[in-house]
Amino acid sequence: MNKTMEGLYSLLYLTLILTILFSLHTQIAHKLLIDKHPLHLKKSPHLPLRFNSDGTFKILQVADMHFGTGVLTSCKDVLASEFHYCSDLNTTHFLKRIIEAEKPDFIAFTGDNIFGSSTPDAAESLLRAFAPAMESGLPWAAVLGNHDQESTMTRLELMSFISLLDYSVSQTNPSVEDASSAAKGNTITDIDGFGNYNLRVYGAPGSHSANSTVLDLFFLDSGDREVVQGVRTYGWIKESQLRWLHGVSKGYQGQKEDFHLLKGSSSATPTPCALAFFHIPIPEVRQLYYQKIIGQFQEGVACSSVNSGVLQALVSMGDVKAVFMGHDHKNDFCGNLESIWFCYGGGFGYHAYGIAGWPRRARVILAELEKGENSWMGMERIRTWKRLDDEKLSKLDEQVLWELHHAK
Ligand SMILES: *[C@@H]1O[C@H](CO)[C@@H](O)[C@H](O)[C@H]1NC(C)=O
Ligand SMILES: *[C@@H]1O[C@H](CO)[C@@H](O)[C@H](O)[C@H]1NC(C)=O
Repeated sequence: MNKTMEGLYSLLYLTLILTILFSLHTQIAHKLLIDKHPLHLKKSPHLPLRFNSDGTFKILQVADMHFGTGVLTSCKDVLASEFHYCSDLNTTHFLKRIIEAEKPDFIAFTGDNIFGSSTPDAAESLLRAFAPAMESGLPWAAVLGNHDQESTMTRLELMSFISLLDYSVSQTNPSVEDASSAAKGNTITDIDGFGNYNLRVYGAPGSHSANSTVLDLFFLDSGDREVVQGVRTYGWIKESQLRWLHGVSKGYQGQKEDFHLLKGSSSATPTPCALAFFHIPIPEVRQLYYQKIIGQFQEGVACSSVNSGVLQALVSMGDVKAVFMGHDHKNDFCGNLESIWFCYGGGFGYHAYGIAGWPRRARVILAELEKGENSWMGMERIRTWKRLDDEKLSKLDEQVLWELHHAK
């Protein structure tokens, strides 16, 4: 065969293949339509999470969106003049605006993402509530509050659904590779609640810490409601969750030792810092009323009557520098308990209770790496501030939560 014939044959062959593919596609495509919606494959963010090449990693905390159904869901605690033109769409608009303005690397939703009793369809409400995050293409994660399950989905169903949404890195349960004890590849199921997991943030690309965890993000399910000796109270973080948390943290200590042995030097060893995210505050947060805080303490801490020892557990881990909570919308302060900062996000959603004339708000957390001689090293600093949903997205209460050279 000469070159021309060869070319012609390949062309015919290619045409045949394309025809088959095309007919297969048209034949099968309609079968892939589920409930008249085209089959949707989850869009995943680029993983692992890592610091930027400028040595920063910025987190946006969104607390208590309290999403209902959308345009028909009214706003609570806004000025009388604002009430008529206010709905869940204002919450959506605020989320879009703050993502645009702050350009975070990651979004953490700390529960009461939807207000279950204001929607007849939890899935629809979740899709609408998280839409700006899904459309942003940024990795995001959520935990549950005490109101999310008050509609058509259980807490297990909610977390499973949330973990399948576009760009979500939420998990229903931690994978076993994060716990030193159990066999690999499985999922831990004997842990209380749904939405306990950790996400590792790696160092800046091309730096000494490019392949190691520099910052660890812990997400915990603080539950909804419980009855203790006949009295109704809020949920709390259980012993099984604290055991898991401790296990992960200890795993890092082991890793650190290996790293030392490997390098024969401690100079390049990044000290992983950790941040925790959950919905319901712990009882000790009440003590902050009598201490110096940054931000507003405007309502009682609505925590559980049970103190399960979360504070001691976090202190004993040693790596947790700050905890970010929601639940009490009128509180937006940060206060320090035994060298760990406890910060409220402040109410974000318009269908959530708040104070008329006191703008809805969000918290930003900025982690910064230490600059070495010719490469980014481990963590150097953690800062935080808030943004108001006013015309200028006013920034307030900026503070340093942790600094390497001030530690110890
Ligand atoms: C809600 O959004 C509408 C439409 O953009 C706007 O006119 C109104 O001022 C917003 N309300 C509040 C309280 O932000
Ligand atoms: C990180 O891993 C990549 C790919 O395996 C490798 O090329 C690079 O040298 C590693 N960097 C460090 C600092 O270990």
